[in-house]
Amino acid sequence: MALRYILEKEDPQLRKHSRPVTDFNPRLHTLLDDMRETLEHANGYGLAAPQVGVLRRAVIVLDNEKEDKPFSEQVIELINPEIVSFEGEQDGPEGCLSVPGVYGMVKRPMKVTIKAQNRNGQEFTMTREGITARCFCHETEHLEGKLFTDIASRILSDEELEEMAKKEEEEAKKEKEAKH
Ligand code: NI
Repeated sequence: MALRYILEKEDPQLRKHSRPVTDFNPRLHTLLDDMRETLEHANGYGLAAPQVGVLRRAVIVLDNEKEDKPFSEQVIELINPEIVSFEGEQDGPEGCLSVPGVYGMVKRPMKVTIKAQNRNGQEFTMTREGITARCFCHETEHLEGKLFTDIASRILSDEELEEMAKKEEEEAKKEKEAKH
């Protein structure tokens, strides 16, 4: 496994349409393994193949139903993903490893059902809510060359970011205390 370089906002590759995966071969498996390592290293919540310069329809997303499991078990691999249905609405801050340090308010469905293939080509359907549903939308949009900054209703200010970081810190602290 190896870390891959994550392309940033201005890179034209991020604006291209990705092609379907047709070969479920060792090369795909290496790509997915590298994406896992890269996502964990970058401390992100999702990653799409075009972000590492591969214009193929493959993404990984963390599963919020497995938050207490080790990282490797949290990763959902979605090959040729397609959102088949969605319901509800959530409006919240969203970021992207390709747009470091920037967060914007983005409206997404609360619950999303996605159809995809696994790394061996087997089809499956999965429904998730909250942040994982948000990621299903965000990552599949990367495959169309879209970034969250295209659709954010507004970008958060430095003060708001500070407040968000503070809140996260407090929550982490609370969680730590609860575990003692
Ligand atoms: Ni992204």
